Amino acid sequence: MKSYSERLEWFHAARFGIYVHYGLYTLLERGEWTMYSERIAPQNYDYLADMFQPAVNAAQEWCSLAQRAGAKYIVLTTRHHEGFSLFDSAYSDFTSAKRGCKRDIVREYVEAARNEGLKVGFYYSLLDWRYPGYFNEKKYPENKEALVQYVHNQVRELMSNYGKIDLLEYDGGWMADLQGGVERQIDFWRSRELNRMVRSLQPDIIINNRSGLEEDLDTPEQVITQARPGRGCESCMCIGDSCCWGYTRFNPNWKTPVQLIQHLVNAAQGEANYLLNIGPQPDGRVRIEEVERLQAVGDWLKDNEKAIRNSQRCELIGSSLPGVVDLNLQGPWTRRGKIGYWCMFRYPGSTATAVKVGTRPLRARLLATGQELQVEYNAISGKMMLKGLPDLPQNPYCTVVEVEFEDIPQLQAEPDLAAWLV
Ligand code: GLC
Repeated sequence: MKSYSERLEWFHAARFGIYVHYGLYTLLERGEWTMYSERIAPQNYDYLADMFQPAVNAAQEWCSLAQRAGAKYIVLTTRHHEGFSLFDSAYSDFTSAKRGCKRDIVREYVEAARNEGLKVGFYYSLLDWRYPGYFNEKKYPENKEALVQYVHNQVRELMSNYGKIDLLEYDGGWMADLQGGVERQIDFWRSRELNRMVRSLQPDIIINNRSGLEEDLDTPEQVITQARPGRGCESCMCIGDSCCWGYTRFNPNWKTPVQLIQHLVNAAQGEANYLLNIGPQPDGRVRIEEVERLQAVGDWLKDNEKAIRNSQRCELIGSSLPGVVDLNLQGPWTRRGKIGYWCMFRYPGSTATAVKVGTRPLRARLLATGQELQVEYNAISGKMMLKGLPDLPQNPYCTVVEVEFEDIPQLQAEPDLAAWLV
């Protein structure tokens, strides 16, 4: 049996994953909450299942794009809140295997992900809007029981029929009236029993915290959050507007490549992962706005991945954290052992100056090209100057400088704030 930190090894090594929201809601082109936010009754939603025709290579396209983006894992919505399963299930007829394309999209996805060397993640929504017992447990107690039983059965199918699954991301564990907190959720979904079953079938799996139980991962949405020390954390975020996980035809607020790379670096700086979401089109193909952005992140990562994979916190911090405005303004620092990675979003030109450096730097170079830089360091003042940087940024988004220190780099205390004046 692996320990917690052993199970999370690949996750920390990765730091970057791609989230894919795809389902019947995709066909409506207004996001994955449409059924509920427009109160479309199941009988009026059902016809979409017969129109569901993802392109033959859709899953392969998601996975090769994720691979080119530099992601090390991928997470697909196997069933979202609308209740349509993208897999063959003995417990539902409302599936892509029985309707529309009559294909097990989850199987295609798992095979494609493995082909691309990606770890495989399943998103699964506990709630299913088609069940009145979810909304009104007292009025429909039998329906509620049927829902919970069906959820347990489907999770067992997902954990049994597709080989090794690396990550299980529950969602939709909250109660419809949003009352009662996690204890009520755990009780409603019988989450302890559910996760015990999952772990007996998939002993190495990583499970998120959305069944009400803490399990392995925190999963903040739309913000970058630092990991709690020793704990797995994954910030999930939309690539466009923050309401749009599923395909949304008119999607404002596409994030720029710089914003995406900043999010990734900020997550890595806090020992957390970045799960970046795309919402493929009705035909399953990925829209150009998403392809271009993922490709840009991938191009940057190819040259700079040492700053990201397996990153640790660095005391030299840099300016990306809220409130830290007084030092190392060019950008955040990440670290691996004694090596610091200064990720410069605001490129300083030929000389980069860091202050309060409490550990001697030995050598420095541009990470992408290996070009050596001159290092000047004053151990008393704590000022480090890196000279000989190209006049223009080596990379238009973020130029990374790798600095090897004598020991794990530490921040130098500044007991006399006036010292630099004399
Ligand atoms: C939310 C939303 C959902 C989305 C998910 C992504 O909980 O309900 O639509 O799939 O977050 O993490």
